[in-house]
Amino acid sequence: MLVLGAGAGHPLCAAYSAARYVQPQQPDHDRMAAAGLRVGPDLTDATGPFDLAVIALPRARALGHAWAAAAAARLTPDGVFAVDGAKTDGVDSLFRALRGRLQCAASLTKAHGRLFAGRVGNDRLADMAPDEMQAAPGFRTAPGVFSADGIDPGSVALAAALPPDLAGAVADLGAGWGWLSAQILAHDRVTALHMVEADHAALQAARANVTDARAVLHWSDATAWQAPAPLDAVVMNPPFHTGRAADPALGRSFIGAAARVLGPRGALWLVANRHLPYEATLESLFAEWRMVDTPPGFKILHATRPRTARNGARP
Ligand SMILES: C[S@@+](CC[C@H](N)C(=O)[O-])C[C@H]1O[C@@H](n2cnc3c(N)ncnc32)[C@H](O)[C@@H]1O
Repeated sequence: MLVLGAGAGHPLCAAYSAARYVQPQQPDHDRMAAAGLRVGPDLTDATGPFDLAVIALPRARALGHAWAAAAAARLTPDGVFAVDGAKTDGVDSLFRALRGRLQCAASLTKAHGRLFAGRVGNDRLADMAPDEMQAAPGFRTAPGVFSADGIDPGSVALAAALPPDLAGAVADLGAGWGWLSAQILAHDRVTALHMVEADHAALQAARANVTDARAVLHWSDATAWQAPAPLDAVVMNPPFHTGRAADPALGRSFIGAAARVLGPRGALWLVANRHLPYEATLESLFAEWRMVDTPPGFKILHATRPRTARNGARP
């Protein structure tokens, strides 16, 4: 059995300990591995063939389609293909697209979800596999990653606000597929750039996009990541969603992580959507902060002198 996309708390993880799981998000992946599940970040080692493939449908339509094609390609000729998803994540439209192609298709709806299954036979759904995705010349992306279709305007605004003398050991927390990181590395005095990203697919794209020897890539939860030594700067465009809901707590944890990994003279450069309430967190975790710029829809924030446990000033 192959299970794609189920997170650590998903019932599919509790029930089928012999299955092969695919989970690209590092925090979930590591919790599943710690629970003894056979889990990998992508399909590289999950070659099959499998008798049953279940997709826990992700929110990103392109990723759902990519997984459908990958799962169908790995089934035995009699293997069963199943999708479990929320209506808000588009399970009904995927069912409509596939029901005519599945043999013995069956479907069950309950509450806001649908489970459907059938045999793919010789139709391996190859047309659902995505083409190579490029967000900008020289930058490839992948289905489901943040801003897969183009450069994020917040990152463009932040890159433009960075001081020309940005220098030393720097981290990009939530580095995505690497566009902002590449702009940081355009600063000659940057000696090392730690690119920290939880989404394995984004990090793989970043690996191809940013080949500068100063870049060190970490598949890691930025809120728990430890820098090898105190950093001179953190430059970041932190995530602000958990699932569908805006979640300023996630951005605040990123600010906490930045304060923790910076040295006493370190500086934070941050872009956020204008309405996100990060100022109080900056006030409590840094001795100095200011709003540098307010490009349309965004704000660029700069903070220095983290109040760290080292100087005993952190609340
Ligand atoms: C707003 S995007 C910025 C991406 C990239 N820096 C850019 O400018 O395009 C935030 C990134 O944080 C990543 N992310 C979300 N939660 C994370 C976590 N706990 N640890 C590390 N990265 C995370 C997301 O996958 C996403 O790529």
